[in-house]
Amino acid sequence: MKTIVTMPGDGIGKTVLPEAIRVLTAAGFNANYIHADIGWEFWCKEGNALPKRTIEILEKHKIGLFGAITSKPNFAALQELDSSLKDKGYVYFSPIVGLRQYFDLDICIRPCKSIKGNPLNFIRRDHEGFEEPHINAVIFRQNTEGLYSGIEWTNPPKIVRDAFETHPKMKSFKNIKNEDLAISTRIVTRNACRRIIREAFEYAKNYGYSNVTICEKPNVLRETSGMMLQEGKLIAKEFPGIQLWDTNIDAQMMWITKNPEIYGVIVAENMFGDIISDGFAGLVGGLGFACSANIGKDVAIFEPTHGSAPKYQELDPPIVNPIAMILSACMMLDHIDEHQISSKIRNAISKVIIEGKIRTFDMLKLKGGADVFAKGAASTFQLTDEIIKNLSN
Ligand code: NAI
Ligand code: MG
Repeated sequence: MKTIVTMPGDGIGKTVLPEAIRVLTAAGFNANYIHADIGWEFWCKEGNALPKRTIEILEKHKIGLFGAITSKPNFAALQELDSSLKDKGYVYFSPIVGLRQYFDLDICIRPCKSIKGNPLNFIRRDHEGFEEPHINAVIFRQNTEGLYSGIEWTNPPKIVRDAFETHPKMKSFKNIKNEDLAISTRIVTRNACRRIIREAFEYAKNYGYSNVTICEKPNVLRETSGMMLQEGKLIAKEFPGIQLWDTNIDAQMMWITKNPEIYGVIVAENMFGDIISDGFAGLVGGLGFACSANIGKDVAIFEPTHGSAPKYQELDPPIVNPIAMILSACMMLDHIDEHQISSKIRNAISKVIIEGKIRTFDMLKLKGGADVFAKGAASTFQLTDEIIKNLSN
């Protein structure tokens, strides 16, 4: 039997993760679930939002389901730290970013598929009226480097400034005082490029997509985006049935409302991947539907794209949409080759959406709050129950 590490985390992560497990169990997936601590509570109590014991559990069992965590700015983090830990040099860092880095989870996959009947689906005006394109794009986001590599300075040390001064373009900044200079680096390495692009092509091949788009900006970011595109062209030769397209990130944001239905798999660096995946998610229902996988060579962690939505965490019964978490659990099933069970769950979700009787507040475009039930919204539990009911139909 598989062992799955469950990390509910904070806020609505604690609500949606057990719902996903309810669905997995009802769909016939038998597993051992081991809880692991992560999130704000452990920062406050222990000065570490990602305790070492959690890392060890993941090291052992390799597959994790993650809910969401709460992050707060530095001053709030220090204020809420247990008094016995104050002034001891503890520094808060985001535990999910920590997990991605520690386990080198460099492949982030974010499928954005419209589910028929979802009232939040993107519609577009055409010459006769309105049309609803079927969107089925899967974003492959490089998850460990690029603009999010974390190598940045305000008031950079002299040795860094001196190194930068060797670049001819630094002449335009020569009169800027060091304390007025902020630098964030965009680092791209050839191996990481190759890995994300090859994974994207493999995925296209395995799941029948006809095109892979490298979405970068090589005309301006000549080195980093240039390397992505160059590697893309080489790898594309190994996949003769799949077309390689390339778009610029800015133009891509325009294309996603003009013709989102033509895109299959899209590959991008960390920041650009973050941007396009949110853009596409907005076309297919938003955060209540956006699922993701973080995959490394050894460990894989599956999580909804959304955060802990603290403003809804106290509501009882809960109102949030569990589908993003349940779809993330389906990605986990695919990862371990339990394709039959994942299709069964996705089909059940499709049936519930198309039937349209049971909908959480987001699908009804209501403002979140305890009054959504009076306005016809279902609770998180009712939506999960309905999905489970449809597993067998
Ligand atoms: P958020 O994703 O928690 O919520 C933004 C808004 O999206 C919510 O107010 C709600 O209207 C909607 N929403 C989110 N999930 C939903 C669901 N399942 N069903 C229906 N509506 C949903 O992002 P926000 O408010 O920016 O951040 C809240 C906290 O979450 C912060 O502490 C932030 O640092 C953290 N966060 C954690 C992430 C993670 O765990 N990977 C990702 C993003 C934010
Ligand atoms: Mg998340």
